[in-house]
Amino acid sequence: MLLHADNVRVRFGGVTAVDGASLQVAAGEFLGLIGPNGSGKTTLFNSITGDQKVSEGRIHFNGQDVTGWAKYKRARAGLARTYQNVQVFPEMLVTENLIFAAEARGQSPSPQRVRELVDFLSLTHLAHERAGNLSYGQKKLLSIGLAVISDPQILLLDEPMAAVNPVMVDLIAERLDALNKLGVTIVLVEHNLPIVLKHCSRVAVLNFGRIIYNGPATGVRADDGVAEAYLGRAYSLPAKVPS
Ligand SMILES: Nc1ncnc2c1ncn2[C@@H]1O[C@H](COP(=O)(O)OP(=O)(O)OP(=O)(O)O)[C@@H](O)[C@H]1O
Ligand SMILES: [Mg+2]
Repeated sequence: MLLHADNVRVRFGGVTAVDGASLQVAAGEFLGLIGPNGSGKTTLFNSITGDQKVSEGRIHFNGQDVTGWAKYKRARAGLARTYQNVQVFPEMLVTENLIFAAEARGQSPSPQRVRELVDFLSLTHLAHERAGNLSYGQKKLLSIGLAVISDPQILLLDEPMAAVNPVMVDLIAERLDALNKLGVTIVLVEHNLPIVLKHCSRVAVLNFGRIIYNGPATGVRADDGVAEAYLGRAYSLPAKVPS
């Protein structure tokens, strides 16, 4: 396994945001991680990347126990992520953003590498634009670039298509597929279920901090527990059959 989050628990005072969740990701996978709002998806990501300390449990990455590692050390070891709130450096040019992100991880990418990544992200015409002037969807693409400039082994994406227009959703999804084909393992948190089911072969579902489904994407819709988690009480009401 490339990544193994083992029985992770994260408590914030009285709130248990992640409640003994385990997640294994094999190299090369494109895994979907879904769940209702507040179910612990972002907190689980944070505990994997080192943005958040775990209360219990272990994080194994690439054969090493990284639970106690600082965030920057995990990033240098090949763990990359994007944030739910898009984070780019608005005053810097698109190319400067990418160089800066790489330098923060101790790397100095060649101008060719930067150019290729800008092209890959369909941002060629904006290479020398300030990031702050990009559309929201273009900023989301750039934030993916900031994560992949240092050639991570695994990329954790926290709602990379949220609140962008449908054309951009398809572009981002297609770029993620391309990254995956290039060998980057991907874990995608996304509320857009059709996108998840189209691109991910396996899906894990969180509810109240626990994994309630972990299996093929084809089985998600038919799973009673998943339906109940999303629909809550309404689901357990007797269904009235129209006459
Ligand atoms: N820093 C924090 N302090 C206190 N409670 C927190 C903190 N971060 C998250 N929580 C709580 O932990 C739970 C899980 O939150 P989290 O953001 O991980 O959920 P999520 O599945 O990412 O939700 P969404 O789909 O809305 O992004 C929620 O009840 C949230 O209010
Ligand atoms: Mg979240």
